[in-house]
Amino acid sequence: MEFYIDTAEIEAIKKYWDMGVIDGVTTNPTLIARSGRVFSEVVAEIAEVVKGPISVEAVSETAEELIEESKKLAEYGEHIVIKIPMTEAGLKATKELSKLGIKTNVTLVFSASQALLAAKAGATYVSIFVGRLDDKGHEGMDVVWETSQIFQNFDMDSKIITASIRHPRHVIDAAKAGSHVATVPPAILDKMTAHPLTDDGLARFAADWAKVKA
Ligand code: G3P
Repeated sequence: MEFYIDTAEIEAIKKYWDMGVIDGVTTNPTLIARSGRVFSEVVAEIAEVVKGPISVEAVSETAEELIEESKKLAEYGEHIVIKIPMTEAGLKATKELSKLGIKTNVTLVFSASQALLAAKAGATYVSIFVGRLDDKGHEGMDVVWETSQIFQNFDMDSKIITASIRHPRHVIDAAKAGSHVATVPPAILDKMTAHPLTDDGLARFAADWAKVKA
């Protein structure tokens, strides 16, 4: 399973890249805005650090505009993946970008039927937003399970990204469901790393070592 970090914060990206636990990065306009920096600078800096897929979002409305915007975004580097909205225009753009060899991440997917259409259109990745479904009282992970089964049934090329992750249990459930990727915010990666019993164990070893060292 691959992990992407869901942030535009360069320090967090460096931290987890250096730990060897992330394979790529996903951003969106909200995350870039939260970094308080200009898009072009942020993406160039991320590309300096991360030698794996870096998703950046195309925000145009029509298929033609999405294709043109995506071609420009793809020039940021060999690892750039274009996030395309799950709309009729987005599917048309996905098909054309796939023919051009530009990788796509069809985003804002909330049902297995949307995921299936995105895969048919040639999406490299489909991003299922589990947290936002949970927020509305649905079971977001059910969509990951269904999509995973469908993609396996037909040996489809698209990879599932479980996105909108709210807690470490989402990551484990995504892994069990066969999601190829989980994109995880830094705060959740922090929670996945730490455990109070690890801290207790270290404190106990340190105290005992102080008694016996020469
Ligand atoms: O990057 C897309 C997705 O992970 C955003 O999640 O927390 O805004 O629902 P969230």
